[in-house]
Amino acid sequence: MIDLNREIANHEDELRRAEAGVDAIELALCDRWYPAFHVAARAGWINDPNGLSYFNGRYHAFFQHHPYSTKWGPMHWGHVSSTDLVSWDREPIALAPSIEADRDGCWSGSCVTGDDGNLYAFYTGNRWMDDPAVSRAHLQVQCAAVSSDGIHFQKLGVVVPNQEALSNFRDPKVWRQGDVWCMIVGQQSPLGRGQISLYTSSDLHVWDYAGILYESPDPCVRMLECPDFFCLDGRWVLCFSAMGMKPKGYVARNYNNAGYVVGSWELGRPFEAQTDFRPLDWGHNFYAPQSFTAPGGRQVMFGWMSDFSFDTPTMGDGWCGQFTLPRELSLRDDDVLLSNPVPELGDLFKGEHVLNSLTLGNNQELQIAPELRCGLVELTLDLGSTSAELVGLKVHQTTSGSYLLVAWDAQARCVMVDARCAELGNRGYRATPVSGKVLRLRVYLDNGSVEVFVNDGEAVLSELSFPSDGPCAVALASVAGTAAVTTLSHAHLRGRA
Ligand code: FRU
Repeated sequence: MIDLNREIANHEDELRRAEAGVDAIELALCDRWYPAFHVAARAGWINDPNGLSYFNGRYHAFFQHHPYSTKWGPMHWGHVSSTDLVSWDREPIALAPSIEADRDGCWSGSCVTGDDGNLYAFYTGNRWMDDPAVSRAHLQVQCAAVSSDGIHFQKLGVVVPNQEALSNFRDPKVWRQGDVWCMIVGQQSPLGRGQISLYTSSDLHVWDYAGILYESPDPCVRMLECPDFFCLDGRWVLCFSAMGMKPKGYVARNYNNAGYVVGSWELGRPFEAQTDFRPLDWGHNFYAPQSFTAPGGRQVMFGWMSDFSFDTPTMGDGWCGQFTLPRELSLRDDDVLLSNPVPELGDLFKGEHVLNSLTLGNNQELQIAPELRCGLVELTLDLGSTSAELVGLKVHQTTSGSYLLVAWDAQARCVMVDARCAELGNRGYRATPVSGKVLRLRVYLDNGSVEVFVNDGEAVLSELSFPSDGPCAVALASVAGTAAVTTLSHAHLRGRA
């Protein structure tokens, strides 16, 4: 019998080796698309946000990290911390594969502060059953590690074994429910269905199986990655990243798709979903989000601005992968989950230029800013007085003629982010239906991304964007009709022109 908790390498040595791996890649870093105000690794690859928490007076964000290359590989937990969710300090890599159970990767998971005042990390230990180049079959178990300072972790080994030898069983999310600790885990049932299982514990060390919390009603969904579960205004929101879902209209158009259902739940009963699956974000690049309850009770979520095409242009620049902005979640009466950038982000921008009550003529294009690679653009349109078929902001517009279009499409009644005129990265477009007579857009521009918040967070579209060197302009354009602009403002990132 294999001892799953057997140390196969010294954890401290593995962490030092991983930091040296990042040092080596960082030497060749090119920062043309490196984020100015989004979380990314110093160098190397990142994917999912992990272990989001507030501990010892600081916010902590860990992330899936491959420190030896700009491609996905044996996973470590990278780490940054912050006092304000806006500027982040680098912390040493927190977890590296070092025991039998996690020998091929410390996969995604979460953190909580235990009754003893320590920070506990729960993560999936991954082992390939075979050569991963030949077979992706893996054995996954849930492991724990503990830290008194939030920086250095001591591994506690396996806390939830994979009793049924499920082929996919990962991403523990732990929270406290009254006086019980709960853990949910994403899994693939023996019949190939995407499920979320529940475990409970009184001490964070010994866990008991408490049944299936949820099974996707969609028979195409084969796995629910990165489950997350929280209560807002008396309703429970279950988030997950679904594998295998088929596109339906504007929904589920990405390779894998992150979304949520809203329903009711109490401990000891299954979750009862009262809505269908809804996207958490409608853009090309959003996956594996995680949320946490921040001091004061806010539920704050980060996503991974994923790129499943695996030919991300930054891979040649020494880094790949970044988080979305932190988003504060709230639930509308009709069970739509609103995602808004945390208010702290307002401090990032300065020098606002405002235009009020402007009518853009038929097929007119107006340059708003000659150079705004990083900044914030806000637009309010009076749709009742707009006759244009398309009204859009061209952002990251370069002298070579490339741009990303963030537009209102009157015929489809959608807001879309259209990358057909972008030089690099995704092509095609993503769209979200909107209703109402007023449209409000908040568009965050960073060196390598664009995030669009629609109508106070009722939809968000996250997109990677790779403009070429030289100035990046912003323009407002109307097509086949006029556009009634109530207000249009833009602001630069502090510290930039
Ligand atoms: C989601 C995911 C998780 C897993 C991790 C591995 O993107 O596949 O399910 O734990 O990434 O890096």
